[in-house]
Amino acid sequence: MATREIKWWHRASVYQIYPLSFQDSNGDGIGDIPGIISRLDHLKNLGVDVIWLSPVFQSPMKDNGYDVSDYRDVHPWFGTKNDLKKLIEEVHRRGMKIISDIVLNHTSDQHPWFIDALKRVDSPYRDYYIFRKKINDIQSVFSGPAWTKVPHRDEYYFHFFAKEQPDLNWQNPNLRKELYAILNEWLAFGFDGFRLDVIDLIGKDIDKGLIGHGPFYHAFLKELKDNVLKDANLFTVGELSGSSAEQAAAVTGAPEGTFSMAFQFSHLWLDEQLGKGKWALKRLDLLDLKNTFEHLHSVYEKQGWNALFMGNHDQPRPVSRYGSKYHRYHSQTMLQLAFYGQLGTPFIYQGEEIGMVNYPFKSINEMKDVESLNYYQDQLGKQPVRSIMQSLLAKGRDHARTPMQWSSKSYAGFSTKKPWLPVHPQYRFINVETDAHSKHSIQQFLKQFLRLRKQHDVFINGKLKFRSFHPSIYAYIRENDKESIMIISSFSSRKISLKIEDIQDWEVLLSNHPTLTLQSLTPIPPYFGVMLKKRNKHAND
Ligand code: GLC
Ligand code: CA
Repeated sequence: MATREIKWWHRASVYQIYPLSFQDSNGDGIGDIPGIISRLDHLKNLGVDVIWLSPVFQSPMKDNGYDVSDYRDVHPWFGTKNDLKKLIEEVHRRGMKIISDIVLNHTSDQHPWFIDALKRVDSPYRDYYIFRKKINDIQSVFSGPAWTKVPHRDEYYFHFFAKEQPDLNWQNPNLRKELYAILNEWLAFGFDGFRLDVIDLIGKDIDKGLIGHGPFYHAFLKELKDNVLKDANLFTVGELSGSSAEQAAAVTGAPEGTFSMAFQFSHLWLDEQLGKGKWALKRLDLLDLKNTFEHLHSVYEKQGWNALFMGNHDQPRPVSRYGSKYHRYHSQTMLQLAFYGQLGTPFIYQGEEIGMVNYPFKSINEMKDVESLNYYQDQLGKQPVRSIMQSLLAKGRDHARTPMQWSSKSYAGFSTKKPWLPVHPQYRFINVETDAHSKHSIQQFLKQFLRLRKQHDVFINGKLKFRSFHPSIYAYIRENDKESIMIISSFSSRKISLKIEDIQDWEVLLSNHPTLTLQSLTPIPPYFGVMLKKRNKHAND
């Protein structure tokens, strides 16, 4: 562990922008690239090093841009290629980097390749997709069968996501070449790397029913690296939703692995009933979270590098999922400590820096996401509407996609017109401007945390040991030869009467209850979070 060579991205922190919902600049209610440019100083000020831009390419927007119809052009809602060029320049001018999301597992059904493949049986693009006369019973992630019949023809095409997102056939070498060319063009254009959408699905062997981490995966990753991702300074993060911790670690830690790091999903499965998918709700047991990360760390200590995330555009808001909206400041800040002090690079999703919470959707009519709408349709008649809604309210992706709350002005300063998804009703209290001036400022806390993380290499090369103080407390020590840092986070909405022993040698570096001293630390307040450093008698700093 002590031998890990420190790379720049180990110290970095990443901020994800969901362009539809970040900032509108032209009053059409939809976020756009000039809007993003106008908010870059906010990110720089937070201490962000890398921006991950969710897709801005041409798309019919069935899955909000994760259904691409032209990989080489920008959707007019977001602006032009020139705007994108300017965004990259402005990011670089501020000393930050920017990576593009890229969806290589499937295209939109409106992509010219797919249109041509449907039109004529002798199309050279037919083999870019997966057509079969005989099909199996694989189900789509977005409800219903993963096969849809081709109109007027006795065959089906495969789509692991919505039926408007046909899967690409990576076994076709011409397709792979085309994709590599596209990626290389975007690198030449100025992007510093990529976030590769569901990339562990590209090695699938459909006829054998193998999808995630399939038999051709490693060969394709190697080719992808040799043809595109060979520069060891690129920042690449793979979305590995179907990989185990071991499988994820093995393909990260470039240059040994293909990617700098990866999103591995095991902690996201803890509040669902085993094997029944995301909508089958279960209460999160904190011990499971601890065991999951303990395992992840034991794997990553040997190999690779992890991407630490609690939310993104596909997940509910962390305060609502793991904390309490009645304790927004304390739950969001203790979560930052609990998640981001572990082994890996922190990823912040827009709105997390102000503790945005889930939207109080009243009915399915207020939701827009294809996954939620399909699930609702599919479940009608199979279970009561009330219980369908309960799942959607807990896990629906629209929670993360409501407009960013910048100020207490109308539409939260996001737009001057009614936005494409409604603004959260509490935006007057929960917004960047109000938070910045509050004595309980979440963004200030995050900023301090990110600064401390950069100053202490123990976050990168330190061993990680969990401590068991109490079933509602998530606590661990990071330790290297020079120093020890301990993080203690309470996931409880109640006070915990517990005296933590043996902490007289520690000093507070950051706390979400700054007036509490270690001596006065009992009982432990709701959602308490603290970062402690051990005074080392032998160190002279
Ligand atoms: C990824 C994206 C998600 C998208 C899916 C299909 O999981 O994060 O938003 O719907 O892939 O592209
Ligand atoms: Ca706009």
